[in-house]
Amino acid sequence: MTVTATSASPASLSVDAWVVPLARPVASADEEALTNTLGASFAQALRVLGDEHGDTVVIYPEAPEAERIIFVNCGAIDEVDAESLRRAAASTAETLRDAHATDVGLVMPTLPIEARTATQALVEGLVLAHYRYTAYKTDRDDVAPVLNALHVAYRPDHDEAAVEDGAARGQHVAAATCSARDLVNRSPHEKTARHLAAAIKDSGHAHGYTVETWNRDRIEDEGMGGLLAVNRGSVEPPTFSVLEWAPDQAVNDRPVVLVGKGVVFDTGGLSLKPTKDSMDFMKADMGGAAAVMGTFEAVASLNLPVHLIGLVPATDNRPGQHAYVPGEVVTMHSGATVEVMNTDAEGRMLLADALSYARRYTPALVVDLATLTGAAVTALGHYASAVMTSNTPDAAERLYALQRAGERTGDRVHPLPLYDDYNEQLKSDIADLTNVGGRPAGAITAGKFLEHFVDYPWMHIDIASTAFLSSAQPYRPKGGTGAGVRLLTDYLERYADAQSIA
Ligand code: BES
Ligand code: MN
Ligand code: ZN
Repeated sequence: MTVTATSASPASLSVDAWVVPLARPVASADEEALTNTLGASFAQALRVLGDEHGDTVVIYPEAPEAERIIFVNCGAIDEVDAESLRRAAASTAETLRDAHATDVGLVMPTLPIEARTATQALVEGLVLAHYRYTAYKTDRDDVAPVLNALHVAYRPDHDEAAVEDGAARGQHVAAATCSARDLVNRSPHEKTARHLAAAIKDSGHAHGYTVETWNRDRIEDEGMGGLLAVNRGSVEPPTFSVLEWAPDQAVNDRPVVLVGKGVVFDTGGLSLKPTKDSMDFMKADMGGAAAVMGTFEAVASLNLPVHLIGLVPATDNRPGQHAYVPGEVVTMHSGATVEVMNTDAEGRMLLADALSYARRYTPALVVDLATLTGAAVTALGHYASAVMTSNTPDAAERLYALQRAGERTGDRVHPLPLYDDYNEQLKSDIADLTNVGGRPAGAITAGKFLEHFVDYPWMHIDIASTAFLSSAQPYRPKGGTGAGVRLLTDYLERYADAQSIA
């Protein structure tokens, strides 16, 4: 799929369909330009376009440079922001798909927000809403047409460089999000820990970042007791991937480390999950790993000047003959001992090892992403991920910056506290701590468990509620969502800007 910005008039470009986003009241420059190209049919479309944000109307022009023109209502002009544009663009996707429109034009409107932001948002909305995972569909009639080319048409009164930049960024970021979605949606039989590591390696080759893959021997040498314990019930070996993006012009002297939970399938282990509405979604338990990979793709495509490390511990969690058992005490990478009280609390076991390993980088910041707890789903539903942070002096600013990135991208996060009182729930009679904290505050006690292995500025993002959807949202079809990719990419961009000023 290509996205190109063009100064050519819509009347001179032949496409399958034009998308025309309009906020109310319509800017006079837009009205004039569209009346010039479309004449009376524009006035007519304006009259019949519904009042609600996301309403669309299709016209079939008489002298067709495009077979159809889809107008979409972007809401009140003074309420327009990136997310409202993303959603408005997404609401044209169904019409475009039904029309088999693969070559699509987008007419840039005049908006009160930065042209770069607006363009990026419109492109993201269109591309992300078109996404479908079709790798296993054998009936091609069942496979909806894909968007092949998107032409963003701007006028001389637009900022050309800003539109071009926005279009390119939208394409890169949406593509990276879709890579993460693809990986989440892949069938578990083709998604063992080794497959996952290979996919990350391929991604590194394609996007220009380096990937080192550790096998079981290396993981044993490193003493990653948590990862190895979870892996014992599996017939497949674990992997540990180390990603690195180290641009010459990096603004940070200490790296930012991203850690992603790579549980390629979570049966719960011997503490077996029920199937319905629980185990049946657990191919998505590597959503954190997918988010890390996607973020590396976006960061590399945008050539962001941040030194980044990625750590992805991976295994499935199964009740095989040698599976770890409740009551077992595991010695972790850090040397701490953990009494396993539920083998289904496996994510924190392997994340703890990766977080403890991350200390060697003396990182400026570590962010982990994990489909970690059902409790995060209970707390926030499917509209935001939960975020927690270690209590270092700049914690509040860091949280706020991430929340702001969430609002801008629509890849939202909401904070939960990490009061030390919660440590009570993780006390073990015989080991340093236990891996389950009981029913109250399950998302938080998981965070407290991880915090035990951290001695640097850190944020933990529980994406259990957002990485995978059973019912679609605007620009998020059912299945893997790529949650975290756009959030972190936006956060890291601002992070790089702030560092280069400081
Ligand atoms: N992968 C699950 C969490 C999850 C639940 C992800 C729902 C996505 C949707 C995790 O490994 C898990 O099983 N967590 C347990 C922890 C409990 C045993 C302390 C949970 O949340 O029930
Ligand atoms: Mn589990
Ligand atoms: Zn899990």
